[in-house]
Amino acid sequence: MQIEGCVAFVTGADRGLGAGLLNALLERGAGKVYAGVKKMEGVADGDPRVVPVEVDITNIEQVASAASNAKDITLLINNAGLNRTQPVLETNDAEAARAEMEVNYFGTLNMMRAFSPALKSNGGAIINILSILARVALPSMASLSASKAAALRMTEGARAELAPHGVRVISVLPGPIDTEMSRSIPPPKIPVGEAVDAVLSALEGGSDEVYMGAMAQEIARGLAADRQALHARLLTL
Ligand SMILES: NC(=O)c1ccc[n+]([C@@H]2O[C@H](COP(=O)([O-])OP(=O)(O)OC[C@H]3O[C@@H](n4cnc5c(N)ncnc54)[C@H](OP(=O)(O)O)[C@@H]3O)[C@@H](O)[C@H]2O)c1
Repeated sequence: MQIEGCVAFVTGADRGLGAGLLNALLERGAGKVYAGVKKMEGVADGDPRVVPVEVDITNIEQVASAASNAKDITLLINNAGLNRTQPVLETNDAEAARAEMEVNYFGTLNMMRAFSPALKSNGGAIINILSILARVALPSMASLSASKAAALRMTEGARAELAPHGVRVISVLPGPIDTEMSRSIPPPKIPVGEAVDAVLSALEGGSDEVYMGAMAQEIARGLAADRQALHARLLTL
């Protein structure tokens, strides 16, 4: 689909990848961009095409209200995400698994359910920003991996449900991106500008599952070639 003239909704638009996507959509001629933010003070104003929307994606009433005020959308980018950087068993944050599932799985599902009626009638696309850790568990972040894996399966289900309505659903699986979320991860990390380009070019490409960055692509190849050897290697990280 074309970015020029599109009406987009981006969650988590106040910082990191979401802020980069917001700016790039404007630069590339989007007609309107709803900037979904958890707290209203996070949005930069200035461009009249930006419509700030307060929406915590785990809050079903806020999500419903956002959807009823954005019935003109043609592109939904589910970018908001949470990573508490926890393993699954010996965790020092017993609430992490539930919080990550609430945001990464249920929050994304809330948005898709609320916005799909408008997308069905307008046509368009959904991009879900997942993670390469939807395909493999990095032991130190296995809790996040579980929530992203659930979101990946849910995205596949939604793709099948929306295909007959002409709505494309794309999963983007990035490796580490240079944002606050990956502050504790050593380089190399994908610069935000490159990550933004990869997300938006997914709209032009034919693949519905996009592996972003060298690490994600190497893991995808490793999974296809020898899953067990790859898992053994991840245990050492
Ligand atoms: N950075 C990486 O290495 C990496 C790698 C793979 C995938 N990803 C994915 O890329 C996406 C963007 O992450 P990022 O790197 O830009 O991280 P970030 O800088 O930590 O930004 C996360 C964004 O999500 C928002 N958010 C969190 N919980 C929310 C909720 N309940 N409702 C609405 N918004 C919420 C945050 O809002 P507040 O500012 O209000 O907290 C923030 O805008 C995420 O889905 C992440 O999982 C990132």
